[in-house]
Amino acid sequence: MTRSLLSISELGEAGIRRILDLADHMAEVNRRPNPKVPALRGKTVCNLFFEDSTRTRLSFETAAKRLSADTMTFAVSQSSLNKGESLRDTIETIAAMGVDAFVIRHGSSGAPWQLGQWTDASVVNAGDGWHAHPTQALLDMYTVRTALHRREGFDGVRVAIVGDIKHSRVARSTSAAFRLLGADVTFVSPRTLLPPVHDEPSTARLDDVLGDIDVLYLLRMQRERMNEALVPSLREYTMRFGLTPARAARLGEHVLVMHPGPMNRGVEMAVDPAELRGNVITKQVANGISVRMAVLFDLLGSGSESSLAGGIDA
Ligand code: CP
Repeated sequence: MTRSLLSISELGEAGIRRILDLADHMAEVNRRPNPKVPALRGKTVCNLFFEDSTRTRLSFETAAKRLSADTMTFAVSQSSLNKGESLRDTIETIAAMGVDAFVIRHGSSGAPWQLGQWTDASVVNAGDGWHAHPTQALLDMYTVRTALHRREGFDGVRVAIVGDIKHSRVARSTSAAFRLLGADVTFVSPRTLLPPVHDEPSTARLDDVLGDIDVLYLLRMQRERMNEALVPSLREYTMRFGLTPARAARLGEHVLVMHPGPMNRGVEMAVDPAELRGNVITKQVANGISVRMAVLFDLLGSGSESSLAGGIDA
Protein backbone atom coordinates (compact mmCIF):
# COMPACT_ATOMS: atom_id res chain seq x y z
CA MET A 1 0.00 0.00 0.00
CA THR A 2 1.25 3.51 -0.82
CA ARG A 3 2.16 5.46 2.31
CA SER A 4 2.12 9.23 2.62
CA LEU A 5 2.98 11.88 5.22
CA LEU A 6 0.09 14.32 5.36
CA SER A 7 -0.24 15.41 8.99
CA ILE A 8 1.21 14.92 12.44
CA SER A 9 -2.04 13.46 13.76
CA GLU A 10 -2.01 10.76 11.08
CA LEU A 11 1.65 10.00 11.89
CA GLY A 12 1.00 9.72 15.64
CA GLU A 13 3.48 9.42 18.48
CA ALA A 14 4.97 6.11 17.32
CA GLY A 15 5.43 7.50 13.80
CA ILE A 16 7.15 10.63 15.10
CA ARG A 17 9.54 8.54 17.17
CA ARG A 18 10.27 6.27 14.20
CA ILE A 19 11.18 9.27 12.00
CA LEU A 20 13.34 10.87 14.72
CA ASP A 21 15.22 7.59 15.23
CA LEU A 22 15.81 7.33 11.48
CA ALA A 23 16.96 10.98 11.46
CA ASP A 24 19.78 10.06 13.89
CA HIS A 25 21.15 7.70 11.21
CA MET A 26 20.72 10.35 8.51
CA ALA A 27 22.52 12.94 10.65
CA GLU A 28 25.43 10.49 10.87
CA VAL A 29 25.42 10.24 7.05
CA ASN A 30 25.42 14.05 6.84
CA ARG A 31 28.55 14.26 9.02
CA ARG A 32 30.52 12.13 6.54
CA PRO A 33 32.97 13.82 4.12
CA ASN A 34 30.83 12.50 1.27
CA PRO A 35 27.26 12.59 2.59
CA LYS A 36 25.66 10.47 -0.11
CA VAL A 37 24.28 6.92 0.18
CA PRO A 38 22.49 4.58 -2.25
CA ALA A 39 19.35 4.05 -0.09
CA LEU A 40 16.84 5.38 -2.67
CA ARG A 41 18.69 4.64 -5.90
CA GLY A 42 16.15 4.12 -8.69
CA LYS A 43 13.43 6.16 -6.94
CA THR A 44 12.14 9.51 -8.24
CA VAL A 45 10.95 12.38 -6.06
CA CYS A 46 9.04 15.30 -7.62
CA ASN A 47 8.91 18.65 -5.82
CA LEU A 48 5.71 20.59 -6.52
CA PHE A 49 5.87 23.99 -4.85
CA PHE A 50 2.87 26.17 -5.63
CA GLU A 51 3.96 28.62 -2.89
CA ASP A 52 7.33 30.21 -2.27
CA SER A 53 9.86 28.36 -0.13
CA THR A 54 13.56 28.45 0.58
CA ARG A 55 14.19 25.98 3.41
CA THR A 56 11.64 23.28 2.71
CA ARG A 57 12.18 23.09 -1.06
CA LEU A 58 15.97 23.08 -0.94
CA SER A 59 16.17 20.65 1.96
CA PHE A 60 13.81 18.15 0.30
CA GLU A 61 15.85 18.39 -2.88
CA THR A 62 19.09 17.90 -0.95
CA ALA A 63 17.60 15.07 1.10
CA ALA A 64 16.49 13.18 -2.00
CA LYS A 65 19.89 13.64 -3.69
CA ARG A 66 21.81 12.50 -0.62
CA LEU A 67 19.77 9.28 -0.72
CA SER A 68 20.59 8.94 -4.46
CA ALA A 69 16.98 9.42 -5.61
CA ASP A 70 16.36 11.21 -8.90
CA THR A 71 14.63 14.55 -8.46
CA MET A 72 12.16 16.47 -10.61
CA THR A 73 11.44 20.08 -9.75
CA PHE A 74 8.21 21.49 -11.11
CA ALA A 75 8.37 25.21 -11.86
CA VAL A 76 4.80 26.48 -11.64
CA SER A 77 5.55 29.70 -13.53
CA GLN A 78 6.98 27.79 -16.53
CA SER A 79 4.38 25.05 -16.61
CA SER A 80 1.33 24.34 -18.77
CA LEU A 81 -0.85 25.33 -15.80
CA ASN A 82 -0.43 28.77 -17.35
CA LYS A 83 -2.09 27.46 -20.53
CA GLY A 84 -5.11 26.36 -18.52
CA GLU A 85 -4.13 22.74 -17.82
CA SER A 86 -5.89 21.57 -14.67
CA LEU A 87 -4.05 20.54 -11.53
CA ARG A 88 -5.37 17.01 -11.90
CA ASP A 89 -4.14 16.70 -15.50
CA THR A 90 -0.80 18.18 -14.42
CA ILE A 91 -0.38 15.61 -11.65
CA GLU A 92 -1.43 12.70 -13.84
CA THR A 93 0.97 13.88 -16.57
CA ILE A 94 3.93 14.05 -14.17
CA ALA A 95 2.95 10.74 -12.54
CA ALA A 96 2.98 9.08 -15.99
CA MET A 97 6.70 9.88 -16.23
CA GLY A 98 7.31 7.63 -13.23
CA VAL A 99 7.27 9.30 -9.83
CA ASP A 100 7.56 7.49 -6.49
CA ALA A 101 6.85 10.49 -4.25
CA PHE A 102 5.38 13.95 -4.69
CA VAL A 103 6.42 16.63 -2.22
CA ILE A 104 3.75 19.33 -2.37
CA ARG A 105 3.35 22.83 -0.95
CA HIS A 106 0.09 24.53 -1.81
CA GLY A 107 -1.87 27.53 -0.59
CA SER A 108 -5.07 25.51 -0.22
CA SER A 109 -5.62 23.46 2.91
CA GLY A 110 -6.19 19.83 1.92
CA ALA A 111 -4.37 19.99 -1.43
CA PRO A 112 -2.03 17.08 -0.51
CA TRP A 113 -5.04 14.85 0.32
CA GLN A 114 -6.60 15.77 -3.03
CA LEU A 115 -3.33 14.96 -4.80
CA GLY A 116 -3.34 11.56 -3.11
CA GLN A 117 -6.66 10.79 -4.87
CA TRP A 118 -5.02 11.28 -8.27
CA THR A 119 -1.80 9.31 -7.92
CA ASP A 120 -0.48 6.00 -6.62
CA ALA A 121 2.77 7.71 -5.57
CA SER A 122 3.51 8.68 -1.96
CA VAL A 123 2.59 12.25 -1.06
CA VAL A 124 4.48 14.42 1.41
CA ASN A 125 2.78 17.56 2.71
CA ALA A 126 5.35 20.37 2.61
CA GLY A 127 2.78 22.92 3.86
CA ASP A 128 -0.89 23.34 2.91
CA GLY A 129 -2.68 26.62 3.54
CA TRP A 130 -3.14 27.37 7.23
CA HIS A 131 -3.52 23.68 7.91
CA ALA A 132 -0.34 21.65 8.39
CA HIS A 133 3.42 21.55 7.95
CA PRO A 134 4.34 18.15 9.35
CA THR A 135 8.00 18.02 8.30
CA GLN A 136 8.61 21.40 10.00
CA ALA A 137 7.15 19.89 13.17
CA LEU A 138 9.38 16.82 12.83
CA LEU A 139 12.56 18.86 12.38
CA ASP A 140 11.52 20.99 15.37
CA MET A 141 11.07 17.85 17.50
CA TYR A 142 14.42 16.53 16.34
CA THR A 143 16.09 19.84 17.21
CA VAL A 144 14.64 19.87 20.74
CA ARG A 145 15.37 16.18 21.27
CA THR A 146 19.04 16.58 20.36
CA ALA A 147 19.57 19.97 22.06
CA LEU A 148 17.98 18.87 25.36
CA HIS A 149 19.18 15.24 25.15
CA ARG A 150 15.56 14.08 25.57
CA ARG A 151 15.40 10.90 23.49
CA GLU A 152 12.81 9.39 25.79
CA GLY A 153 10.26 12.20 25.32
CA PHE A 154 9.43 15.71 26.43
CA ASP A 155 7.59 15.14 29.73
CA GLY A 156 8.02 18.31 31.81
CA VAL A 157 9.37 20.40 28.90
CA ARG A 158 7.54 23.76 28.87
CA VAL A 159 7.06 25.39 25.47
CA ALA A 160 5.69 28.83 24.60
CA ILE A 161 4.60 29.28 20.97
CA VAL A 162 4.33 33.00 20.33
CA GLY A 163 2.55 34.94 17.59
CA ASP A 164 -0.05 34.37 14.91
CA ILE A 165 -1.28 30.93 15.95
CA LYS A 166 -4.56 31.18 14.05
CA HIS A 167 -3.07 31.44 10.56
CA SER A 168 0.02 29.31 11.19
CA ARG A 169 0.31 25.79 9.80
CA VAL A 170 3.60 25.55 11.70
CA ALA A 171 1.89 26.29 15.04
CA ARG A 172 -0.78 23.69 14.35
CA SER A 173 1.65 20.89 13.44
CA THR A 174 4.42 21.76 15.88
CA SER A 175 2.11 22.14 18.90
CA ALA A 176 0.48 18.79 18.05
CA ALA A 177 3.89 17.09 17.86
CA PHE A 178 5.09 18.66 21.13
CA ARG A 179 1.89 17.48 22.83
CA LEU A 180 2.23 13.93 21.49
CA LEU A 181 5.78 13.76 22.88
CA GLY A 182 4.60 14.97 26.31
CA ALA A 183 5.56 18.67 26.38
CA ASP A 184 3.37 21.36 27.97
CA VAL A 185 2.55 23.96 25.32
CA THR A 186 1.22 27.47 25.98
CA PHE A 187 0.04 29.73 23.16
CA VAL A 188 1.07 33.38 23.55
CA SER A 189 -0.87 35.55 21.16
CA PRO A 190 -3.15 38.54 20.70
CA ARG A 191 -6.75 37.33 21.02
CA THR A 192 -7.36 38.21 17.36
CA LEU A 193 -4.65 35.75 16.30
CA LEU A 194 -5.75 32.77 18.44
CA PRO A 195 -7.77 29.96 16.85
CA PRO A 196 -11.36 29.93 18.17
CA VAL A 197 -10.89 26.35 19.43
CA HIS A 198 -7.62 25.04 20.86
CA ASP A 199 -6.51 22.56 23.50
CA GLU A 200 -3.54 24.55 24.80
CA PRO A 201 -3.69 27.14 27.60
CA SER A 202 -3.18 30.63 26.23
CA THR A 203 -2.17 34.09 27.37
CA ALA A 204 -1.69 37.48 25.76
CA ARG A 205 1.17 38.31 28.16
CA LEU A 206 4.56 37.01 27.01
CA ASP A 207 6.24 38.55 30.06
CA ASP A 208 4.21 36.29 32.35
CA VAL A 209 5.63 33.06 30.87
CA LEU A 210 9.23 34.05 30.05
CA GLY A 211 10.64 32.86 33.38
CA ASP A 212 8.91 29.45 33.26
CA ILE A 213 9.78 27.96 29.89
CA ASP A 214 12.37 25.69 28.31
CA VAL A 215 11.55 26.50 24.67
CA LEU A 216 10.58 29.88 23.21
CA TYR A 217 9.14 29.27 19.73
CA LEU A 218 8.59 32.52 17.81
CA LEU A 219 6.33 32.54 14.76
CA ARG A 220 6.68 34.79 11.76
CA MET A 221 4.44 37.81 12.05
CA GLN A 222 2.52 37.75 8.78
CA ARG A 223 2.55 41.38 7.70
CA GLU A 224 -0.62 40.99 5.65
CA ARG A 225 -2.53 40.58 8.96
CA MET A 226 -1.91 44.27 9.54
CA ASN A 227 -4.21 45.06 6.59
CA GLU A 228 -6.89 42.89 8.16
CA ALA A 229 -6.65 45.03 11.32
CA LEU A 230 -5.87 41.96 13.44
CA VAL A 231 -2.79 43.72 14.82
CA PRO A 232 -2.79 47.48 15.52
CA SER A 233 0.80 48.06 14.36
CA LEU A 234 4.05 46.15 14.02
CA ARG A 235 5.60 48.42 16.64
CA GLU A 236 2.94 47.51 19.17
CA TYR A 237 3.25 43.83 18.25
CA THR A 238 6.98 43.96 18.98
CA MET A 239 6.38 45.75 22.28
CA ARG A 240 3.95 43.05 23.44
CA PHE A 241 5.12 39.87 21.70
CA GLY A 242 8.59 40.48 20.26
CA LEU A 243 11.85 39.06 21.64
CA THR A 244 13.43 42.36 22.68
CA PRO A 245 16.83 42.75 24.40
CA ALA A 246 15.03 43.18 27.75
CA ARG A 247 13.11 39.93 27.31
CA ALA A 248 16.19 38.08 26.04
CA ALA A 249 17.99 39.07 29.25
CA ARG A 250 15.22 37.44 31.26
CA LEU A 251 15.46 34.07 29.49
CA GLY A 252 17.06 31.27 31.47
CA GLU A 253 20.44 30.07 30.17
CA HIS A 254 18.95 26.72 29.19
CA VAL A 255 16.06 28.14 27.10
CA LEU A 256 16.05 27.17 23.42
CA VAL A 257 15.00 29.95 21.03
CA MET A 258 13.37 28.61 17.86
CA HIS A 259 11.84 30.09 14.72
CA PRO A 260 10.66 28.25 11.58
CA GLY A 261 11.81 31.07 9.30
CA PRO A 262 11.69 33.28 7.44
CA MET A 263 11.99 35.67 10.40
CA ASN A 264 11.14 39.36 10.54
CA ARG A 265 14.11 41.01 12.19
CA GLY A 266 13.01 43.96 14.27
CA VAL A 267 9.47 42.57 14.62
CA GLU A 268 9.11 39.18 16.38
CA MET A 269 12.92 38.92 16.52
CA ALA A 270 14.00 42.29 17.89
CA VAL A 271 17.47 41.07 18.94
CA ASP A 272 20.33 39.59 16.93
CA PRO A 273 19.60 35.86 17.25
CA ALA A 274 23.31 35.07 16.85
CA GLU A 275 23.85 36.67 20.25
CA LEU A 276 21.30 34.47 22.02
CA ARG A 277 22.78 31.61 24.05
CA GLY A 278 19.94 29.25 23.26
CA ASN A 279 19.57 30.08 19.57
CA VAL A 280 18.97 26.82 17.63
CA ILE A 281 17.45 28.40 14.51
CA THR A 282 20.26 27.40 12.17
CA LYS A 283 20.25 23.92 13.76
CA GLN A 284 16.56 23.68 12.82
CA VAL A 285 17.52 24.39 9.20
CA ALA A 286 20.41 21.89 9.21
CA ASN A 287 18.28 19.22 10.91
CA GLY A 288 15.68 19.72 8.17
CA ILE A 289 17.88 17.78 5.77
CA SER A 290 18.36 14.78 8.09
CA VAL A 291 14.68 14.71 9.01
CA ARG A 292 13.50 14.95 5.40
CA MET A 293 15.95 12.19 4.43
CA ALA A 294 14.32 10.13 7.20
CA VAL A 295 10.83 10.91 5.89
CA LEU A 296 11.71 9.94 2.31
CA PHE A 297 13.47 6.77 3.45
CA ASP A 298 10.53 5.88 5.68
CA LEU A 299 8.14 6.17 2.73
CA LEU A 300 10.24 4.84 -0.14
CA GLY A 301 12.99 2.76 1.39
CA SER A 302 12.59 -0.59 3.02
CA GLY A 303 11.42 1.54 5.92
CA SER A 304 12.66 0.02 9.14
CA GLU A 305 15.72 1.08 11.12
CA SER A 306 17.01 -2.49 11.08
CA SER A 307 17.01 -2.56 7.27
CA LEU A 308 19.03 0.63 6.97
CA ALA A 309 22.45 -0.94 6.82
CA GLY A 310 22.37 -1.91 3.15
CA GLY A 311 21.31 1.59 2.15
CA ILE A 312 23.47 3.84 4.24
CA ASP A 313 26.57 1.87 5.24
CA ALA A 314 29.69 3.94 4.56
N1 CP B 1 9.82 27.03 7.51
C1 CP B 1 9.53 27.06 6.18
O1 CP B 1 8.61 26.39 5.73
O2 CP B 1 10.35 27.85 5.45
P1 CP B 1 10.25 28.03 3.85
O3 CP B 1 8.95 28.75 3.59
O4 CP B 1 11.46 28.84 3.48
O5 CP B 1 10.24 26.66 3.25
